[in-house]
Amino acid sequence: MAHAFPDHPFLNGNYGPVRMEAEAPDLEIIGDMPTNLNGMLYRNGPNPAYAPRKDYHWFLGDGMIHGFEFNDGKVNYRNKWVRTEKFKVERQHGEALLSTDFNDLGERDQRAGNTGLNAANTSIIYHGDKLLALEEVNPPVELDPDTLETIGPWHFGGKYSGPMTAHPRVDPKTGEMVFFAYFGGFPGEPKVGLHWVNSAGALTRSEIIDVPYCAMIHDFLITENYIVLPIFPATIDMNRISKGGAFVAWDPSHHTHVAVIPREGNINGNIRWFEADPCYVYHPLNAYETGDGKIICDMMQYPDAALFDENGGNTNALEATESRLTRWTLDLNANTGDFAQTQLSDFSGDFPRIDDRVTGLNNDHGFFATKSLKDQEGGPFDTILHRDFITGTDHKWVAPAGQFVAEPVFVPDDADAAEGDGYLLSPVFLKDENRTDLVVLRARDVAAGPIARAKLPTRVPYGFHGNWRQF
Ligand SMILES: [Fe+2]
Repeated sequence: MAHAFPDHPFLNGNYGPVRMEAEAPDLEIIGDMPTNLNGMLYRNGPNPAYAPRKDYHWFLGDGMIHGFEFNDGKVNYRNKWVRTEKFKVERQHGEALLSTDFNDLGERDQRAGNTGLNAANTSIIYHGDKLLALEEVNPPVELDPDTLETIGPWHFGGKYSGPMTAHPRVDPKTGEMVFFAYFGGFPGEPKVGLHWVNSAGALTRSEIIDVPYCAMIHDFLITENYIVLPIFPATIDMNRISKGGAFVAWDPSHHTHVAVIPREGNINGNIRWFEADPCYVYHPLNAYETGDGKIICDMMQYPDAALFDENGGNTNALEATESRLTRWTLDLNANTGDFAQTQLSDFSGDFPRIDDRVTGLNNDHGFFATKSLKDQEGGPFDTILHRDFITGTDHKWVAPAGQFVAEPVFVPDDADAAEGDGYLLSPVFLKDENRTDLVVLRARDVAAGPIARAKLPTRVPYGFHGNWRQF
């Protein structure tokens, strides 16, 4: 018999897990669901199958995939846990066997044996005809793209069995996927792996680079010619860990470092480093080259590592932190490692997305989740924001009171549509009804509000990231 879940901020309300897998065909639709949305929206997020052994960190709950299949105005829904080895051994014994506490990550029940701590809970991407559930310190887990059933860890045809970031970047012109792994050596070693995967899903190149210190590097950027790898001081310090300290902790004694790495050719001796005061960015929006030797990076920048304090704890809830969309200008012609930082928007938010067809290119539009109704409790974000970079203006849809949005995923009207001509898809939690709608907005007219909602009979817990697979 499973234990009851404890009272914990990341296990309550819509952070709490749903304890079932289900199919809900042909969801009730409010409004007019566009008939040119034909594909599948996948979302991933933590959904712990069992009550934690001790403390719980949001980043360590078992991944659950939510799939919304759009077909000519109809929407079907299904959800499934990712069957990691951790999930399977805990299901076998009916309780949590591995730690979900960053301050005591090694603690485990002996029945878990050597089972790895793979949550597979952060993002999901369809690339090279494979659907991959992603986290950041383990290999991706391949899933059946229709049923969401787990196939197993994906090792790129035996070429690479190491970890992969949850945020690979795909070049829209070539389909090439570039990813990194912040454990490029053993955990704590200041080495980062870089990997190139062609449009067919084949790993074509791997490199290891030296970095100033080992850190939790959550995301990065590509441009047409460069990889931009930012390193922020959410450190993984084996000296601290060996003394009983946290696995990941905010350590502002270190600076922010940014590597600009050529995507083609020899990288040895060709990495350009920039440096700035400590800050943290979970999610950049995009980067691009200006043509005169500069790289623009638009970053959702926090003053510190939200969700990790100096002791590695859970105390910095997302609601308590403020980030700002901030433009970095990296000048490859400058003689200095300094770079300019300019705040672009007054709104605090996260989960920035673009029209993925302009990844690494000069983008006119950006989208992210933010909060407008300051006093309402129940979720971190209640507003979808559209940043128009042409006019420098922000446009918002503020969800009705008691409704909370998530990362807006962009889907174009068709392959040839202009940038930003398409839809934003976001799950919206309705607190009073304790369930979720999948909401559809026109991306360039978010202020008009949803054009359609697909009504789920259940909840999609607050999670992290989603992506679209076009049929
Ligand atoms: Fe992320």
